[in-house]
Amino acid sequence: MKSILVYGAGGHAKVVIDVIEKAGIYRIAGLLDGNKPVGTNAYGYSVLGDESYIHSDDNIHGIIVAIGDNWLRAKIVHAIRAIKPECVFITAIHPQATVARGAVIGEGTVLMAGAVVNSDTIIGSHCVLNTISSVDHDSRLDDYVTMAPHAATGGGVRIESYCTISIGASLIHSVTVHEHTVIGAGATVLSAIESYSVAYGTPARVVRKREAGERYL
Ligand SMILES: CC(C)(COP(=O)(O)OP(=O)(O)OC[C@H]1O[C@@H](n2cnc3c(N)ncnc32)[C@H](O)[C@@H]1OP(=O)(O)O)[C@@H](O)C(=O)NCCC(=O)NCCS
Repeated sequence: MKSILVYGAGGHAKVVIDVIEKAGIYRIAGLLDGNKPVGTNAYGYSVLGDESYIHSDDNIHGIIVAIGDNWLRAKIVHAIRAIKPECVFITAIHPQATVARGAVIGEGTVLMAGAVVNSDTIIGSHCVLNTISSVDHDSRLDDYVTMAPHAATGGGVRIESYCTISIGASLIHSVTVHEHTVIGAGATVLSAIESYSVAYGTPARVVRKREAGERYL
């Protein structure tokens, strides 16, 4: 079994670790985290160092960045790429997730228990499809998108990079959510939502603008 590292040691990382263990494809050699002392134990694994550690271990096949916030996850991915451009970012797909025929899952993306990616849908890199979220047929998620638990889309939607569709929110078929937008918990999106916005309600309306990287969790 090939060895991998998990970047992150928080709540989201715990769930990603569980997905990797259940999938049984990779062995987790340890965790990386810039904010926790070396040796910290998280969910049975030790923190080995920060991203610079990837230079000191030639036996590592790949890594997954298990940081829930889209912007912070991207920062870590970019930092790792700067240190080791050839680094492999693995995907983590729970055995109870479903990926339909024709669907494509980008590198570094995680599908948690019950996630569904339906026919011919393309999921970008470093996305998070959280517990029981679903993206229906012929849709497209760009990179660094999060679908929170129970978020769902109809077919033919487009969700641009750095968007979050919060817990229980729904998108009807064929709508677009433009980049860096957060759709709030429980919202129902019936038409396109502009970029750099926070929108919620039924039907979802933009309630304010947001900056790239603004915290939402
Ligand atoms: C959309 C969201 C980011 C908005 O955060 P925010 O702009 O900081 O909003 P606030 O918490 O300051 O609330 C402002 C007002 O909007 C209301 N509000 C916030 N989110 C709402 C939502 N999703 N639907 C309806 N009303 C909402 C609040 O009740 C509050 O109303 P009030 O002024 O009458 O008291 C946040 O509410 C949300 O939905 N987060 C998603 C969390 C999630 O999915 N977590 C799981 C991650 S795995």
